[in-house]
Amino acid sequence: MHELLSKQNIEFMERAREVAEKHIRPRAAELDRTAEYGWDILEALKSYGLTGVWIPKEYGGEGAGVLDLCLVVEQLSRACGGVGVSYAVNALGSFPIILGGTEEQKERFLPPIASGEKLIAFGLSEKASGSDAGSLRTTAIQDGEDYVLNGHKKWNTNGGVASLFTIYALTDPNRGMRGISPLIVEKDTPGFTVGKREDTMGIRTAWINELDFENCRVPASQLLGLKEGHGFKNAMMTLDRARPGVAAQALGLAQGALEWALRYTSERRQFGQTVMSHQAVQFMLADMATQVEAARQLVYASARYIDSGAKHVNKIAAMGKVFATDTAMKVTTDAVQLFGGYGYCKDYPIEKYMRDAKITQIYEGTNQVQRLVIGRALTRELKELTGHLDLTVEHFPDYDPKA
Ligand code: CAA
Repeated sequence: MHELLSKQNIEFMERAREVAEKHIRPRAAELDRTAEYGWDILEALKSYGLTGVWIPKEYGGEGAGVLDLCLVVEQLSRACGGVGVSYAVNALGSFPIILGGTEEQKERFLPPIASGEKLIAFGLSEKASGSDAGSLRTTAIQDGEDYVLNGHKKWNTNGGVASLFTIYALTDPNRGMRGISPLIVEKDTPGFTVGKREDTMGIRTAWINELDFENCRVPASQLLGLKEGHGFKNAMMTLDRARPGVAAQALGLAQGALEWALRYTSERRQFGQTVMSHQAVQFMLADMATQVEAARQLVYASARYIDSGAKHVNKIAAMGKVFATDTAMKVTTDAVQLFGGYGYCKDYPIEKYMRDAKITQIYEGTNQVQRLVIGRALTRELKELTGHLDLTVEHFPDYDPKA
């Protein structure tokens, strides 16, 4: 399917594939076991020029789009889903700056992210505010030249390793979600503590932490866009652009698991022949490969749509996320099945894919939230449809809307 990709797309993909094969695959099992962050992998990503793919050239990045970001995340995740998401979260954390920062803020915060010198995390969720992101409670009240932050954040991927944090807080608690504003907080700011690290089922190399703010003073110059109240929209627009990244992580996991399943079933012999030559197994592999390809096309299409500058991208981004992540769960589970008892054991690489895949259905908006986003978009589109499709007696003789 390379024919559908540009020269630039293929170049990014091949660079990421080389990093994955040379630097990530040999380390994946160890990183899963030790739950360490792959600092050596970050160095490799830097040397291959992959840390700023999505950041505009004028701020030190590669000036590439969401599709290129997805191609890189897919390749990294083929080898390790934890590395894939740790990388992708730098895009999630920096999109709010790209979308809503002032020129000065972009010039200050984006170049060190593009060079890989600084990692960034995205702080939206809280203990009591997950899917209902608009109900967050952390406050940032202006006091002179500063905003004073109080509250906590939960589920911060890159939390324990990042130097920069995009934090959503209420600058006007009386205005509900319209009082939310995004601020950039630096790691060593007094009153800011990186808290508990989660002990997770999968993506174990990723650092997922709580963040605590106690009378933490952040200069008002770090309020994104130097204006209050645009935080919820900024977060939603960011998630629209970042969800293809999680979809690509899921795609890479599904592709990686499929490759292992092909390899294993072509070597393992039972009943005098390879397991793969049994038709029941071939049918499973055929379904897995078809699902992976369908996911790939939808993820790439959603990324291309966003890169085209289209205005309403939430539906297609949600579709790509829901389809690719459900596919990853199905394909990685089937891959474990094809490995038989070995698939259930940590000596083999496949069970990690299934553990890594599960979270993709949960984070960056649960798949239930994605379906809600799609459903709401369909409801809006229905208004346009009703003009064309006439529910008249001619087409539906028994239809009486007033009955
Ligand atoms: N783009 C622009 N504006 C948008 C928007 C979008 N995609 N979606 C909503 N808005 C606007 C609406 O137009 C509306 O504005 P007006 O009032 O001016 O009309 C406003 O935002 C409120 O919108 P809704 O009424 O739709 O808001 P809601 O409260 O019903 O919530 C939701 C909608 C889709 C459920 C949203 O809360 C949501 O996406 N929740 C999931 C949060 C999430 O994804 N969290 C993930 C955290 S990050 C993470 O997981 C990272 C990691 O670890 C890897």
